[in-house]
Amino acid sequence: MINIETIQWIGGPDGCVDMIDQTLLPNECRRIAVRNVETLWQAIKTLKVRGAPAIGIAAAYGVMLGLQNTPPTATVEQLQNQVRKTCDYLASSRPTAVNLFWALDRMKQTAQQCQATSPGEWKARLLAEAHAIRDEDAAMCRAIGKNGADLIQNGMSVLTHCNAGGLATADYGTALAVMFTAQEQGKKFHVYAGETRPLLQGARLTAWELMQRGIDVTLICDNMAGHLMSLGKVNLIITGADRIAANGDAANKIGTYSLAVLAQAHKIPFYIAAPSSTFDLSLPDGKSIPIEQRAADEITQPWGHRIAPAGVNVYNPAFDVTPHEYVTAIITERGLIHHPDTKSISEILTAK
Ligand code: MRU
Repeated sequence: MINIETIQWIGGPDGCVDMIDQTLLPNECRRIAVRNVETLWQAIKTLKVRGAPAIGIAAAYGVMLGLQNTPPTATVEQLQNQVRKTCDYLASSRPTAVNLFWALDRMKQTAQQCQATSPGEWKARLLAEAHAIRDEDAAMCRAIGKNGADLIQNGMSVLTHCNAGGLATADYGTALAVMFTAQEQGKKFHVYAGETRPLLQGARLTAWELMQRGIDVTLICDNMAGHLMSLGKVNLIITGADRIAANGDAANKIGTYSLAVLAQAHKIPFYIAAPSSTFDLSLPDGKSIPIEQRAADEITQPWGHRIAPAGVNVYNPAFDVTPHEYVTAIITERGLIHHPDTKSISEILTAK
């Protein structure tokens, strides 16, 4: 079994980020060193690091990169200002995954509240917080895997979309964690991975991760999912999420909503796997989740190869919102939230 170290910090407070460049997978699994905050912003924007929890972890370490040019004589107040500036900058990289803003808020709060006696100690405390964000994500993913694994039984076929695996998190995934745990329990099952146009996270990343772990996977184009369901070949669907509103409406990779509607039409259970860091209880429902719009050339010129006429109008939203009525349950590190709504979500998430 492999363990994917998607993103890590090398060294002490003046160290650097080391991450897999996910744009090169599956052809090449290359690690890159990121030494300044501008390069980290670009890495998030261009999906070198992607997936809601991994973006949050990257941003937390990005705050450390933002402190690297501060003079040794900087006061704690100057360092706090620098943290605020870095957080505002990193918050502009991608709008939908709430884990980004959640992680930045944690870093800002630590910067404000830390009672260190020296700038060195203060920076060390901030780095410890970034490490905690990473370590907590790893633990949440393992718990999601355990909580969801009973849903998968021998002989089942599971459909997933985009990549909610180790690459999208600290190391084990959310939707894929459920599959990894079921496999570790000795179950034999099959996975359909939707290719996930336009950036092919399903084809490039999910198929790769499942194959690395020896899970039986079949790649399909996104528009084949309904046909498969009509043939009775899908027993359940599990995807991740980028932001879940207080009532359970969930933003995830574009195409997830279509799968949820199809699942309901075919009476197939539809699950979302996500840690508590992906919930945004400040939004009552999914209508106000900001949806990232991406460049036209991702659709017209994938990997530099033109496939549509120059100048054609393009619509390229990166995410859609699945209303909570379509969600059978949300698999969290705290347990399953069946028929999610404002009450059931708040009960699980606010329980001590
Ligand atoms: O644009 P991406 O690749 O960052 O989108 C990722 C997804 O939509 C994932 O399903 C989501 O972040 C959950 S990852 C555990």
